[in-house]
Amino acid sequence: MNRYWSKVVHGLTPYVPGEQPKLPNLVKLNTNENPYGPSRRVLDALRAEVGDTLRLYPDPGSDKLRAAIAARHGLTADQVFVGNGSDEVLAHVFLALLKHDAPVLFPDITYSFYPVYCGLYGIEFTPVPLGAAFEIKVDDYLRPNGGIIFPNPNAPTGRLLPVSEIERLLQANPASVVVIDEAYVAFGGESCVPLVKKYPQLLVTHTLSKSHALAGLRVGYATGHPQLIEALNRVKDSFNSYPLDRFAQAGAAAAMEDEAYFAGICQKVAATRTTLVAALQGLGFEVLPSAANFIFARFPGRDGADIAAKLRERSIIVRHFRHPQRVSPYLRITVGTDEQCAGLVDALREIV
Ligand SMILES: Cc1ncc(COP(=O)(O)O)c(C=O)c1O
Repeated sequence: MNRYWSKVVHGLTPYVPGEQPKLPNLVKLNTNENPYGPSRRVLDALRAEVGDTLRLYPDPGSDKLRAAIAARHGLTADQVFVGNGSDEVLAHVFLALLKHDAPVLFPDITYSFYPVYCGLYGIEFTPVPLGAAFEIKVDDYLRPNGGIIFPNPNAPTGRLLPVSEIERLLQANPASVVVIDEAYVAFGGESCVPLVKKYPQLLVTHTLSKSHALAGLRVGYATGHPQLIEALNRVKDSFNSYPLDRFAQAGAAAAMEDEAYFAGICQKVAATRTTLVAALQGLGFEVLPSAANFIFARFPGRDGADIAAKLRERSIIVRHFRHPQRVSPYLRITVGTDEQCAGLVDALREIV
């Protein structure tokens, strides 16, 4: 332990992102990236940014991008906040909207960055156990809280909650902020964004990393009541006024205007998911129903870590979580191209 470190740093347990291997020719099914590239329009917009204007700071308010996001969702720009990936948006959400006396509620099996933000900002939280089929049970959230957050579909399970259930939660929980993290909603779920006009305590976050094949650009956003957005802007402008560079703003705005392309690649991923699930079930795997661009699967009687290690020997990487105990038999497998998934199924056939 370093004596120059602050007390805060001594107490941190940082998030561990999925591996970004430097080895060539790996089939990379471990971090839920999109197997298809971004649209031509996005690449053209990025190229157009290369030039003398790079000596100038970018627009601190990302006005053009927020207008494009607002137009896409039928909102106004003051209902939109953008950040350097939805991870940054979520970090600001925890500090701005979820740090209260009562604990924040989120599922015991969910995006593992949430407890990390609580640790960073000193926020109390209570993990709420998922049900027997790894489902989120809204009734378990109907209690005093300092805020509620979960992904829909949830990660790493892929399980989807219907919008009607989220609306039931909002009606029963007017006193604190409810954050729905829709990182994966484009692959098979219905979005709650239209509900932000109706519920002032609802904040919905999105990312361009998965559905828009732009994990490398780092853009995410939140939609909600202007007062929730104002809270996020207060934190942002106390931290970094320019979180999105010129490339990120231009590329993301072009992505928002090329919806047909992105809907097409998400549909392709969803179709591959159907084929992959059937093939794995044919081999004897149990697969949770997924509305995301990944699946959560286990082979009865086999350890998840062992299967992951054997896949790695065959140059295929997937994600395995050791904790909590209940998920350790499972593998989280990103849905790749048809060809990548066929290769995965062949490898798993040999292994099991
Ligand atoms: C549920 C969930 N939310 C948010 C994110 C963050 O995405 P990004 O920071 O790339 O926008 C991820 C990434 O894996 C995720 O799984």
